[in-house]
Amino acid sequence: AVRPRVLSGIQPTADSFHLGNYLGALRQWVAMQDTHDAFYCVVDLHAITVEHDPAVLRRRTKVAVAQLLAMGLDPERATVFVQSHVPEHAELAWVLGCLTGFGEAGRMTQFKDKSSKQGTAGTTVGLFTYPILQAADILLYSPEPGEGARAVPGGVGGRPPTGERALRVPVGEDQRQHLELTRVLAQRFNHRFGETFVPPEAHILQGAAKITDLQEPEAKMSKSASSPQGIIDVLEEPGPMRKKIMRAVTDTGSEVVHDEEKKAGITNLLRIYAALDGTSIPDLERRYAGSGYGQFKKDLAQLVVDTFAPIRERTLALLDDEKQLDRVLALGAERASGVAARTMETVRDRVGF
Ligand code: ADP
Ligand code: NA
Repeated sequence: AVRPRVLSGIQPTADSFHLGNYLGALRQWVAMQDTHDAFYCVVDLHAITVEHDPAVLRRRTKVAVAQLLAMGLDPERATVFVQSHVPEHAELAWVLGCLTGFGEAGRMTQFKDKSSKQGTAGTTVGLFTYPILQAADILLYSPEPGEGARAVPGGVGGRPPTGERALRVPVGEDQRQHLELTRVLAQRFNHRFGETFVPPEAHILQGAAKITDLQEPEAKMSKSASSPQGIIDVLEEPGPMRKKIMRAVTDTGSEVVHDEEKKAGITNLLRIYAALDGTSIPDLERRYAGSGYGQFKKDLAQLVVDTFAPIRERTLALLDDEKQLDRVLALGAERASGVAARTMETVRDRVGF
């Protein structure tokens, strides 16, 4: 069967992924390894766009990979790799950077947000060109005819109307502008140098839930913005995990009902429960009718602990066997390089190297 290709990346910028990462992206990555020709990378090159400590980055990269495997990514079914292990990412980023207008790059709203947080001294050129590296991450894996999808009759020369050379990228709202830039750069390159890249399509993740901060339920749960009490780490010990859920901010009422406006806290907890348990929110409302917040939170805490305890244990076991982890990463790098090297060969030739 023909499987469309999907490409996604995550930064190794924390010691653990969090509940939002898991329910909003990583759980779907695992599901998609069976329906897609999946390429998943830990984007360590992106992680140095802000000041970093080399030893910490090296550790976080390993921990990130271990967590992905512990969540169920299978290195035989999906290509799991570290971005810096495939030097073509940086090379293609340079070429694409030379096709990007300075003003065009300057319109990226995420840069404006991030640079205002970093201040003038902390704002690097790397942070500015971040979306161009992201475009390279994606376009390197443009499927060729016969690769990642069935061969296109007639070969190159225009995007097949059947979408068989599909290149899908899961994106949240905040990444849409970067994906659009990637599409523009793909088309620009193709127009100038000949058909090379497949412009990627935005892919809506099935069952992805947007999780909010446990202490500020109107704000997104985020590793950069949430306080320790507002965020649940995948690798957290069961004790603190339970406490955080029991202490999650709710309203002064007592009914477990979904109400985005008036009961943002309970609504977020219902979303987490439904996503982890597979029960619909209306069914949960019925189940907890009249029982108050206490029992609901207790059950949810158990559900979260039961979900993450095995992932935590597997992660620690994987980190204990560094040789095995390195073998997995070498396999991922080899597979990714196979595709990336072929793309770059074409790019170099077309650009005139
Ligand atoms: P953070 O926002 O904590 O910095 P990232 O931006 O690194 O996390 O996000 C990595 C992935 O996790 C992205 O696909 C993003 O959409 C998803 N994600 C992050 N936070 C949440 C959240 N609170 N709810 C749902 N998905 C999230
Ligand atoms: Na973010």
